[in-house]
Amino acid sequence: MANIKIVFWTGTGNTETMAEAIAEGIESAGSVAEVVNVADTTADECKDLPYIILGCPAMGNEELEESEFAPFFEELLPSLAGKKVALFGSYSWAEGEWMDTWSQTCLDNNVDLFDGHGLIAFDDPEEEDLAKCRDLGKRFAQAVA
Ligand SMILES: Cc1cc2nc3c(=O)[nH]c(=O)nc-3n(C[C@H](O)[C@H](O)[C@H](O)COP(=O)(O)O)c2cc1C
Repeated sequence: MANIKIVFWTGTGNTETMAEAIAEGIESAGSVAEVVNVADTTADECKDLPYIILGCPAMGNEELEESEFAPFFEELLPSLAGKKVALFGSYSWAEGEWMDTWSQTCLDNNVDLFDGHGLIAFDDPEEEDLAKCRDLGKRFAQAVA
């Protein structure tokens, strides 16, 4: 059984909805999910975790949210090398380029990126997206258990 932390930022709740579905998947695999808003944790608290799941929507111009999430991620990144990490987030203006960039940043820093790319959902996630989130959570939990 694994204890898996999901740290997310959300402006309008869409990425939080994804986080909750991922947590459901983790729990369906018999593991424990801890869903935490990035405002309620720090990179220091997360740096020694053996694995983590991170969520942030596309903000700015195809960027991570700049005031809370990007500083958290930049501080955490050096400690993620060699660790299994899954990424996810919602978008609605473009095609998901922010996640391509975020995923590539992880790969460039030797993160063991789950599925090789983050999971994206358009706007308010539909049932099909939520099924993908639950599946990600379940497979991640099985991979780290
Ligand atoms: C300030 C701002 C910047 C955004 N920038 C982008 C963007 O660059 N690309 C994109 O596809 N969506 C962009 N969006 C849309 C959000 O990513 C989208 O509404 C998403 O569903 C928000 O997720 P949340 O509910 O978790 O905050 C932006 C939204 C805001 C408010």
